[in-house]
Amino acid sequence: MGAKIAIIGTGYVGLTTGACLSHLGHSVICADVVQEKVDSLSRGEVPILEAGLDELVHEGIAEGRLSFVMGAKNAVADAEFVFLCLPTPQGADGSADLSYIKAAATEIGPHLQSQAVVINKSTVPVGSAGEVEKKLKRDDVHVVSNPEFLREGTAVSDFLHPDRVVIGANDEAAAKRVASLYEALPGETLITDPASAETIKYASNAFLATKISFVNAMAAVCEEVGADVQDVVKGMGLDQRIGNRFLVPGPGWGGSCFPKDSHALVRIAENSGYQFGLLRQVIAVNEEQFGRVANKITRLAGGSVEGKTIAVWGLTFKAATDDLRDSPSLNIINRLLEMGASVRAYDPSVRDGSDARLAGIEIVTDPYEAAAGADVLAVLTEWPEFREFSLGQVAEVIGVKALVDARNLLDRDHAKDLGFAYDGIGRS
Ligand SMILES: NC(=O)c1ccc[n+]([C@@H]2O[C@H](COP(=O)([O-])OP(=O)(O)OC[C@H]3O[C@@H](n4cnc5c(N)ncnc54)[C@H](O)[C@@H]3O)[C@@H](O)[C@H]2O)c1
Repeated sequence: MGAKIAIIGTGYVGLTTGACLSHLGHSVICADVVQEKVDSLSRGEVPILEAGLDELVHEGIAEGRLSFVMGAKNAVADAEFVFLCLPTPQGADGSADLSYIKAAATEIGPHLQSQAVVINKSTVPVGSAGEVEKKLKRDDVHVVSNPEFLREGTAVSDFLHPDRVVIGANDEAAAKRVASLYEALPGETLITDPASAETIKYASNAFLATKISFVNAMAAVCEEVGADVQDVVKGMGLDQRIGNRFLVPGPGWGGSCFPKDSHALVRIAENSGYQFGLLRQVIAVNEEQFGRVANKITRLAGGSVEGKTIAVWGLTFKAATDDLRDSPSLNIINRLLEMGASVRAYDPSVRDGSDARLAGIEIVTDPYEAAAGADVLAVLTEWPEFREFSLGQVAEVIGVKALVDARNLLDRDHAKDLGFAYDGIGRS
């Protein structure tokens, strides 16, 4: 017999959590504040691109274990467990903005069952479990930290096959109750105190961002010394102490988490009296990387992009998602637009330019149309299908045969054979 669960916030994390917990046999009600989202999900229409999510949402609805409602308080009356999966955006000073969490906790407090467990799944600074407790104003309700580690694009698979489940609680019984929700899943469960659980999430994201910034800095060195970063990372990654995952050079990291979480950790450290210089540098190297890629495009455009047309393949922050939040591609494109370029872009998950973040970019739905007549083609997201596209066909339609592959994704030798001027990351 499954548990009764409410999910507050039905975005990438909340919807995945809700659909997966219902798949595991629990009864789940997901709440949001966007009527359109609640309506479309109630019809079984998933508004985001996430592999396997549609199937789980359909299954949950069909089996009567998954439903959607407007408003947090309308989801919690019968819930034994309430997951807060709300946004924690970057505040003006870099720290995480807890206003969504506090507002939802204030809203649900009076409606919770006695002995309910409220679970912070959002990424929140140390001490947030206590902040939620204050807003709930309920002595008979427990607050537990249970950070989420899923990656967009593989969210369902990550949720159902976690490397680890981290639970931070002051009350051991509440921690064990939360752990029981995941008992069918593989991976280790780590039960700790709330501050450690909250820190594990930030530390993990900051470490992954550090790996990428490190490898991008190494790519810059490779360009100067004539080494090929692809071989360098392969050689490094074969050392099992290092490993090859996340040692991938590219246009810089972005997305909905790394930028805000790295800034938030800098603030958390600073507020506690530690100057996290290493992490500041990781962020600085990342900013530099966006500029380095824009410079590569400028160089292949003949020294200036003013009046030039730049074709772009890839707008999302990574492959297999439709998420444009803090996408490196958009950062680089905006630099080009500011320098007077026209940008024509193709992305498999972006059908039109209606999203305000795409202002000034011509969106096309065919990769060769993007390249037609362009002065440079820039590959900015690592969609695997880009490898299948014909560079020969691109060569026929592009204005100037110039290619910046910021993901080292395409066949460099083939591009050169076709007469392209080529630049990659950490290799030329
Ligand atoms: N996206 C990821 O890959 C990922 C991974 C791990 C952790 N996280 C963390 O999880 C949290 C959520 O991230 P996300 O990407 O799912 O965000 P999101 O923006 O996709 O989803 C948040 C949802 O909450 C809804 N909402 C806002 N206020 C509400 C309220 N009062 N009541 C009910 N719903 C409300 C929004 O409408 C939205 O649908 C963040 O803290 C994030 O850092 C995200």
